[in-house]
Amino acid sequence: MPFQIVLGDITKQHVDAIVNAANNSLLGGGGVDGAIHRAAGPDLLKECRTLHGCETGEAKITRGYDLPAKFVIHTVGPIWRGGLFHEEELLRSAYSNSLKLAQQNRCESVAFPLISAGVYGYPLEQAKAIAIDEIRKFLNEYEMDIYLVIFSRESYRIDQVLFKEIDQEIRKNSGQENPSLKKEVIFGSMMHSLQSRRKSVRRDADASASEICEDAAIPQVPKSLQDALTNLDESFSQSLLRLIDMKGMTDAECYKKANIDRKLFSKIRSDIQYRPSKQTVLAFAVALELDLKETEALLKKAGFALSHANKADVIVEYFISRKNYDMYTINEVLFAFDQNLLGA
Ligand code: APR
Repeated sequence: MPFQIVLGDITKQHVDAIVNAANNSLLGGGGVDGAIHRAAGPDLLKECRTLHGCETGEAKITRGYDLPAKFVIHTVGPIWRGGLFHEEELLRSAYSNSLKLAQQNRCESVAFPLISAGVYGYPLEQAKAIAIDEIRKFLNEYEMDIYLVIFSRESYRIDQVLFKEIDQEIRKNSGQENPSLKKEVIFGSMMHSLQSRRKSVRRDADASASEICEDAAIPQVPKSLQDALTNLDESFSQSLLRLIDMKGMTDAECYKKANIDRKLFSKIRSDIQYRPSKQTVLAFAVALELDLKETEALLKKAGFALSHANKADVIVEYFISRKNYDMYTINEVLFAFDQNLLGA
């Protein structure tokens, strides 16, 4: 999964590089700096001495020594002084320069702490929003597995109004199964949404919107198992590829927006019978900006359904029903409620 928020200790992350929230001397300190030096051993400090410090917003790289990570990227975030001393610009540079250095050293995975959000006093929500925005910008251009490592639940906060609203939604729905949407309602809206976007379907050049709708038509009740097996509806991956075309998206636009790894997407595209996880199906539903009924129909293709007894489903349904398809925000909320993130 290209972007993940995880709860844990950055010194234990099995990634190519971990990022250290250091100070300008690069000679160690408290917080995550202290933890990384302790875990890496004395050779890390020896190498840091050869670097002669680091400017705020810049980044320098060393080996990881006793850490599971191959490299440590040392960056210096700004000390919060009220926001009038280019703190935001400096914090953004700390992330972007660290990512650039990771890329230059062919890292395929990198873990960040929340830079400046501890001793340096950067307001937590702003520090997190900047981290996520810089990571999002990088992932729009490049490929890498990027982890934002949160040391403790207390050091992580989402917008309190949003948190309360969703918490109420979960309590209101808890224990209820989703009222099962009637088949014709699901496929009716699927036909409507497919018909309303009359674009040629790249994979079936001669297919017209009506033929596509037939695929989405209510399946005939199979007479026998043999009949059912040979008259399978369009598979999940076939529906996905058609929906990408109908939405006028490229494959890359779709899987990036869905927080799906390129290699996994290639597997889905090449295996007509691919069986995705529920998080993967929901991630594509968000990326394709499907409405609730279309989402249910796509889930059904993969043998899943939304359930009000499932916190993660209630959260995703909350965003889809409000047409909020921001995957990063959805995943932040899923993390805040200790749920699996969307993507794969
Ligand atoms: N793993 C992941 N995150 C951690 C860990 C850890 N082991 N330890 C602390 N954190 C988190 C903190 O909870 C905070 O959210 O890292 C974030 C950054 O906090 P600090 O380590 O205090 O870093 P920062 O705010 O950038 O201040 C840097 O502190 O340690 C000194 O030498 C460092 O002078 C520099 C200053």
